[in-house]
This record gives sequence, structure tokens and C-alpha cells, in this order.
Amino acid sequence: MARTMGRDSSVVDESVPRGTTRRVLSYARPYRGTIAVFLVIVTLAALTSVAAPLALKTVVDDGVIPGDRRVVVLTALAVAAIAVAEAVLTLVQRWYSARIGEGLILDLRSQVFRHVQEQPIAFFTRAQTGSLVTRLNTDVIGAQAAFSSVLSGAVSNTISVALVLAAMFALSWQITLVSLLLVPLFVLAARWMGQRLAGLTREQMTMNADMGSRMTERFNVGGAMLVKLFGDPDRESAEYTRRAARVRDLGIALAVNRTFFMAALTLVAALATAIVYGLGGILAINGSLSVGTLLALAALLTRLYGPLTSLSNIRVDVMTALVSFQRIFEVLDLRPAIVERTGAIELPGGSLSVRMRGVSFAYPSADEISLRSLESTAPGDRKGSGPVLRDIDLAVEPGQLVALVGPSGSGKTTLTTLVARLYDPTDGIVEVGGTDLRDASLASVRNRIGMVTQDAHMFHDTIRENLVLAKPDATDEQIWAALDAAQVGDLVRRLPAGLETVVGDRGHRLSGGEKQRLAIARLLLRSPGVIVLDEATAHLDSESEAAVQRALDVALHGRTALVIAHRLSTVRGADQILVVQDGRIVERGTHPDLLAAGGLYADLYRTQFADA
Ligand SMILES: Nc1ncnc2c1ncn2[C@@H]1O[C@H](COP(=O)(O)OP(=O)(O)OP(=O)(O)O)[C@@H](O)[C@H]1O
Ligand SMILES: [Mg+2]
Repeated sequence: MARTMGRDSSVVDESVPRGTTRRVLSYARPYRGTIAVFLVIVTLAALTSVAAPLALKTVVDDGVIPGDRRVVVLTALAVAAIAVAEAVLTLVQRWYSARIGEGLILDLRSQVFRHVQEQPIAFFTRAQTGSLVTRLNTDVIGAQAAFSSVLSGAVSNTISVALVLAAMFALSWQITLVSLLLVPLFVLAARWMGQRLAGLTREQMTMNADMGSRMTERFNVGGAMLVKLFGDPDRESAEYTRRAARVRDLGIALAVNRTFFMAALTLVAALATAIVYGLGGILAINGSLSVGTLLALAALLTRLYGPLTSLSNIRVDVMTALVSFQRIFEVLDLRPAIVERTGAIELPGGSLSVRMRGVSFAYPSADEISLRSLESTAPGDRKGSGPVLRDIDLAVEPGQLVALVGPSGSGKTTLTTLVARLYDPTDGIVEVGGTDLRDASLASVRNRIGMVTQDAHMFHDTIRENLVLAKPDATDEQIWAALDAAQVGDLVRRLPAGLETVVGDRGHRLSGGEKQRLAIARLLLRSPGVIVLDEATAHLDSESEAAVQRALDVALHGRTALVIAHRLSTVRGADQILVVQDGRIVERGTHPDLLAAGGLYADLYRTQFADA
């Protein structure tokens, strides 16, 4: 514990760039009206807290001592009325501050979600999902909490302190001055402690987030499978326990520090009260101070130190808020690498041609697309890839089927991602339907170009939801037609829950071939003009192979298709085969031509396709 208490990873040390404050305030703008009402209520609430001690003076000096029953009763009624008003004001004040705070959460969340979603696929290949989700959750809430606490805390406490001090000075400036002697000591102690607590809290938050992302990684099907097959459960547990133990230590340190802090503050406040009693008592005996004034001063004093404690920590709160905001702004400032040009045009309907002219491509470096703080990579891993595609020229006429073949790692998947505009080429032009993809609207690229990836990812949701992703307004007839065309209609009909069957995380309850066909059904619902397909590498048994083939025949009919071929039937039926090696197209032609030429394709054919 001594070690944790000695550590000071204070947030206050983190520098916050200028302009952040102004940007934060811009989020308050929509709530101007609400904030104004809130401030009025806060001021009224502060007034009520000063009124009660003053009533004490009245009841003693003007009621009890002169023996005036009427004053006593009236004051008592007034105090009761003030108490009711205070209760109502507290409620309304909380309601307003919650409206502002929760509204701010909503604004930030929607904005961050939309923005992250706009990031290119490259971003998601780098960012750790866990850190990203933490940022969406923790920082947004952190920013909000500090924002509201600053708003209500700073404002209401400043008003309270000012009013209490004004009342005390009015009652007796000598005693007030003396009792304020302890304030500097108090403020210094509170500040020092507040920073320490903020540092500990922040570290605890980081550790919690860390545990969270570890669990997200380990407890999805893929991660769990990996640990089962290759991991060491004991080591995994030990690693997790180590982090959890650190959270425990931090929790203990926080609890002890907090209590120590509160005890110290209570002590200072009690000392100030002692001064008021001592000095005020003597002045009262001498007759220069009334008994009621003495009582009122003592009561006011108890309402002075609480707000002062909060105020002395306001700086830490503000800094915490700014750091949270800054981490959110960091994400918001990521410029999506793939954006829609103003005046972008729609890709036409029907099947479209695909052309590449002089296309070269290298994967972007991490710094171009991602945030260091969202990754946990080795320092050397920040450079982009070398050239992956070089000088690619290709032309696919509308309705043609082009097969891509080549050794593993030669750049086939990369080439297809350029056609779906998941990436922009480093050099050269990718045209679909005669339009440079960079001039086409993003929505029309999504609608006109359909891609089925090798893993045919499914959300952990029902079959229906996974399908209507492609066409939210699809009717049941359309869904079944697509399923039948993709040769999975019968399979889905046999499932007890039919369309409402949940396909597990990553679609794990389906076989590879079934998942591919489901993905083809999804594609059919969208009905794109160009299809990009990465065939499953896994060898299917001959029955599902035939089913996938029939599904593809329907899907590709009358559409332009670019298929990364792993099956013999695909290469045989292709209008054109492109052989990719080391990022270049090294051979092109039809199956018989290329076989006859006896080059790389002939080799690949013997090793990859001939056994099928
Ligand atoms: N996101 C990425 N960032 C950096 N480099 C990448 C990325 N994705 C792939 N690469 C690299 O680009 C090269 C081409 O990869 P690609 O996935 O296009 O090969 P492929 O021909 O599809 O291989 P396979 O037949 O095994 O699927 C490989 O060297 C790979 O390491
Ligand atoms: Mg590939």
C-alpha cells in the first residue's frame, strides 16, 4: 500500500492542448437554455442553505431571549417552508443537471459511433476492439460525469461559499477572519489529496479497461478456441489474476486515502468550529456578540467547509474531464481515409464493367489510419507494407466471370478489396461501370458491388437479421427466394426455429459450406451488379461442393464477377483467368490456353485443382 500511495500518476500532469476547452464548451451550446435555468435554481438552493442558520439567530435573539412566542412560531414556520423549498429545489436541480449530463452522453456517443463506423477497414485491422469499446463507454461517461460535476459542483459550491462567507462577515467579521485562517492549509491539503485520488482512480480505470479487453478477446468463440487448442489455461488465469490483484490493491489504496482525506478535512473543520466557540463565546460573554449570532456563525461554518472541499478539487475534476474529452476528440479527429467526394455520382444499375489501369497498392502505415493509443503493438510494427500490388491492368466486361488464381500471399484478396473500395489504390485507377470509384457515392458502391469474404462472417443474431442486413425492407418471400436460390432454403426450413435461428458468434453453428451459401443468399438480397467472391479454401465434400456451385450459378448469372478461385469448376467456367504472383498479373487467358502455355497456371493447376 505504501507503494501505491507513493505513486502519483496524476492526470493533472497530462497536458491538454489549447482549444480543447473551447471545443468542450461547444458541446454545451445546445443546452444553453437548460443551463441558464439550472444556474438560477442552483443560486436559489444556495440561498436556502444560508437562510436556515440566519433563522437560528432570529429565533434565539428575537424570540427566545426576549420571550416573544410569535417570533418563535413564525420563524419555525419559515424554517419549515425553507426546508420544503430546499427539497424541491434539490430535486429540480438534479433533474436539470441529469438532463444536461445525459444529453451530453447521448450526443458524444452518437457522434463517436458514427465516426468510428466511417473509418476504413484498415482502421479496424489495427485497433483493438476492447480499447475501442472502452473508449466509447468509459471516456464518454468520464467526460460527462466530470462535465456535470464541474457544472453543478463548481457553480453551486462557489455560490454557496460566497453566500455563506457574506453572511458570516455580516454577522461578525472578526470571527470570520479568524476562522478563515485555517482555509489555506485546508485548500492545500485537499488539493494534494485530490490529485492523489484522481491518479489512483485513473489507474484503476485503465486496469479495469485492460481486464475488459482481455476478456473480450479471450471469451469470444475464436479466442476461446485458440486458448483451448494452444493456450495454457493456468497461465491465462494467472495473468488475469495479476491484473485483478492490481485493481484490488488500487481499491484498497483508494479506500484508505479517501478515509484519511475525509478525516483530515473533518478535523480542520472541527478546529475552525473550536475557534468560533472559543473566540465567539468570549465575545458573547463580553456582550459584543449576541448568543444568536454565535449560534448562527457556528451553523454557517458547517456549511462552509463542505463546498470548499469540492471547490479545491474542482481543478482535478476539470482536468479529468478534459483528458476524457481529449481522448474522445482523438478518435473524432481521425480522418477517414475513404470519404465521399462532393458531387459524387451514383453507379448505374445492371451488370457493370470493372477496369483497373496501372494500379499499385501498399497497405497504409498504422500512423496513417489508426491511433497508437487504441493498439498494443510492438514499436516496429507501425510501418506500412511494401508494395503488395504492382502495375495491375485488367478489364472485365459486364456479365463476365473472371477467376483470380495465384500462390498464397500473392495479393489476390488485396486486389478484390480495391474493387469494393475497402481501400483506395496508391497509384492508378479502379473503374466500375466506367466511373472511377473515388468519384462514386459510397452508398452506390455498397449497393452495386457485393463482396463475399472467405470467412463469410455472420453476426451473433438470427438468420433473418443476418440476411436483412443487405436489404432492411426484404419481405419473407424475398428472403426465402434468396435462400432457395443459394441452396440453403431446405436447410433453414429444417431448423426448428427457421429464420429465427441464432447463428452463433461468428456463425459457428454452421458448417463452412452452409455459411458460404448463407452469405450468397445475403448477396442475392442485395442484388448487386458486380460480385467479388473469395471462395472458401476449405475443401467441401462433393455434395456441398455441388450445392455451392448451384448457388453460385444463380448468383453470378448476368452479373460481373471477380472470383478468387479455389475450385476447379470455377476456373473451368471463367471467361478469363488472371494469374497473380508477387502482386503482378503474370499470365492471363482461358483455362485451355493457359494449360497449353505450361507456365505458372499449369503448375498451380497440377498442385491445387487437379486432385479435386
Ligand atoms: N492489412 C494488411 N496490412 C499489411 N499487409 C497486409 C494486410 N493484408 C495482407 N497483407 C499482405 O499483403 C500480401 C498479399 O496478401 P493477400 O491477402 O492479398 O494474399 P492472397 O493472395 O489473398 O493470399 P491467400 O491465397 O493466402 O488468401 C501478403 O504479403 C500479406 O502479408
Ligand atoms: Mg486471400
